[in-house]
Amino acid sequence: MRKKIVTLTLNPVIDKSVSVAGISPNTKLRCTSPTYDAGGGGINVSRALKKLGKESLCMYLAGGPTGEHLHQILDKAGINQLVVPIKGWTRDNLAVTDTTTNLQYRFGVPGPQVAKEEWETLLIELEKNLEEGDYLVASGKLPPGMPDDFYVLVAEIAKSKKVRFILDTSGEALIKATKSKVFMLKPNLGELSTLCGVTSISAMELEPLAKKFLEEHDCEILVVSLGPKGALLATKDLIEHIPAPTVLQKSTIGAGDSMVAGMVVSLLKGKTYSEMVKYGVACGTAATMHEGTQLCNKDDAENLYKWIQAQTNA
Ligand SMILES: Nc1ncnc2c1ncn2[C@@H]1O[C@H](COP(=O)(O)OP(=O)(O)OP(=O)(O)O)[C@@H](O)[C@H]1O
Ligand SMILES: [Mg+2]
Repeated sequence: MRKKIVTLTLNPVIDKSVSVAGISPNTKLRCTSPTYDAGGGGINVSRALKKLGKESLCMYLAGGPTGEHLHQILDKAGINQLVVPIKGWTRDNLAVTDTTTNLQYRFGVPGPQVAKEEWETLLIELEKNLEEGDYLVASGKLPPGMPDDFYVLVAEIAKSKKVRFILDTSGEALIKATKSKVFMLKPNLGELSTLCGVTSISAMELEPLAKKFLEEHDCEILVVSLGPKGALLATKDLIEHIPAPTVLQKSTIGAGDSMVAGMVVSLLKGKTYSEMVKYGVACGTAATMHEGTQLCNKDDAENLYKWIQAQTNA
């Protein structure tokens, strides 16, 4: 049976980027022609998977002319899509780079309101498209109008379909989701603090907190991403710290999603959890080596993976 990867994005976005020579108020700022990129957690995971040579089915909610534009952008990138239409218009964010200082200003807007019938349709489509043994990756925040326990409903579908559910989200949606069965969670330190109900976590507290979390929840793998410090892999009987290589960092956009994509690729290849996180860290770090929203490059990821393997086997 061929296992497939399905990604889920509830609040996708078109990232519009322009540059301008100097930013000052009350004058007309003459910007360059915009470039457009598709974004939003699950969509980034699908794009990163494509860069790593893996196909996925990218499911998302979208509406209005911006929703159609998003579909075109992803079509051009060769991503298999399943769009559940909504009445509201897909959001678009703006990033402006001031070429005189090289500073970037990023303006984000909330997503459209999603009606109950719309997210219910998405759940029906999800159930139809999942088969036993598949991997389901949900990444990103929920848009306005969606219930905090939405990922609980997704987890229930995954469980009934015998699908491995991988979740990367934050806030209340994350807390609620962990009441149900999740195969793998990838919080960063801030998100793990939210999960553990603490304001911050020191290096010394990390391992015991991860262990305690796994004892109290139905979660097989907890991967805590630590930015430039790599990641902590925790399962019921394994704790391992994987360092990240030091690279010339250009943009950390999509580092987390690239990491998740790398881990899913390894899981499909039947790698061990330790190898999986090493490749995930390599892909996350690879994503930081290029400007903008380019995500991870496969050759960079392979080279970094070799470096991590050499470090950790030494
Ligand atoms: N400055 C960096 N140098 C090297 N690697 C990095 C750096 N920042 C991130 N990474 C890599 O990317 C992975 C994920 O990064 P991070 O922990 O910042 O995730 P995140 O907070 O979920 O990011 P995102 O903003 O994409 O959601 C890290 O485990 C690491 O491998
Ligand atoms: Mg993240």
